[in-house]
Amino acid sequence: MKKTIIIYGSTTGNAASAAQTIAEKLNGAEIKEVSSATKDDLTAYDNIILGSSTWGDGELQDDWFGFLPSVKSADLSKKTVAVFAVGDQFSYSDTYVNAMGSLYEAAKSAGAKIIGSTSTEGYSFNSSTAVIDGKFVGLALDYDNQAEMSEDRISAWVAQISPEL
Ligand SMILES: Cc1cc2nc3c(=O)[nH]c(=O)nc-3n(C[C@H](O)[C@H](O)[C@H](O)COP(=O)(O)O)c2cc1C
Repeated sequence: MKKTIIIYGSTTGNAASAAQTIAEKLNGAEIKEVSSATKDDLTAYDNIILGSSTWGDGELQDDWFGFLPSVKSADLSKKTVAVFAVGDQFSYSDTYVNAMGSLYEAAKSAGAKIIGSTSTEGYSFNSSTAVIDGKFVGLALDYDNQAEMSEDRISAWVAQISPEL
């Protein structure tokens, strides 16, 4: 069984850049755009990291819509999943990183063990479906307003999830 795959959707490159940085810090994770992901990618790996930017009114990045049904209908009961999303907390304060909430729900309904929740400290927004019990369900990034914080946030998150992968 292979170890870790990162599957992401990105329109202007920010979520792609995050995925790349996560892969580098994880030392050897496979990385794939969601537009070319297949059901086999979900079965062939122990650990699956799902990422997206947030568009429209808190929606997943467009390329995700073709693959989300595959995630929902997969049996991920023996998999460990972590989620991340990119958004703009100031311009889209009511739907900040809602894409991460959608990825979380999909992985949860597929039975995955989900790791990697993080504090909302240092962010400023009204509401987000990615916040459960006061914490983000995964890693939240904001390249529009806090780009300089992304690297440290990714480092801390990778250090947090690594022991569980
Ligand atoms: C039309 C439009 C709608 C957006 N909607 C949201 C949103 O609902 N929530 C959010 O957090 N960010 C939203 N964003 C911000 C993007 O997610 C953000 O710019 C992100 O960095 C883009 O990442 P990408 O380059 O990987 O696609 C929106 C941006 C645009 C241009």
